[in-house]
Amino acid sequence: MLAIIGGSGLTQLSCLEISHRQVMRTPYGEPSGPLTFGKINNHEIVFLARHGHGHTIPPHVVNYRANLWALHSLNPTQVVAVASVGGIRANLTPGKMVIPNQIIDYTHGRKFTFFEDTDQPVTHIDFTEPYCQKSREYLLEAANRAKVNVIDHGVYAATQGPRLETAAEINRLERDGADMVGMTGMPEAALARELGLHYATIAVVANYAAGRGTNIHGIPLKEIYAILDKAMVGVRNILESLVKCNGD
Ligand code: HPA
Repeated sequence: MLAIIGGSGLTQLSCLEISHRQVMRTPYGEPSGPLTFGKINNHEIVFLARHGHGHTIPPHVVNYRANLWALHSLNPTQVVAVASVGGIRANLTPGKMVIPNQIIDYTHGRKFTFFEDTDQPVTHIDFTEPYCQKSREYLLEAANRAKVNVIDHGVYAATQGPRLETAAEINRLERDGADMVGMTGMPEAALARELGLHYATIAVVANYAAGRGTNIHGIPLKEIYAILDKAMVGVRNILESLVKCNGD
């Protein structure tokens, strides 16, 4: 079964025939909301809205551990995270989609690991490639089949939020090698790896990052949701194409 984590602009999946919702409890507390089970084109999937059903949980407050633990308990074939980002590189204009292959973590103060007990051997994970390469390939193939244009790699900078960045911060992120900036990529990806999940992300560019493109003097926040709404059509098409190859 495919698991989907929806971000800003994707709190519901219109292509999903819902069968039921389930409230889950985990050793780490409650996920962002009940898990929604259903079918896309007759294939079973489970959906979780990262910011809650009513989009009320800010990025630094999301219980990433509970979210990943709950999905892991269902033994999903793959976890696809949908995340909105600001575009830093010139080709990442609003509405574009990217399947990132790298992350830089600038977040702080979040619960970022399952391995914090002092009565167990110290555990490290390999995070050289932070996303599951096979899952990235499936996403790229699904996009190709659905004829949705996606950029096949990029470096995701995860910032703390909930405020957007300053123009100088974006310049620094670019010097660091980041192509896009978002607030939820970490610790989600690292927790997914700790659980051995096959996790990859569809990043949707909602805006030019601060100081970039037409946003030299500010980011028009009201426009972001209109852009995301439009781009989510492409995301749904990718997901519909992906489920066909994901087994039930
Ligand atoms: N910065 C951080 N996170 C974001 C942005 C941004 O510009 N746009 C959407 N999520």
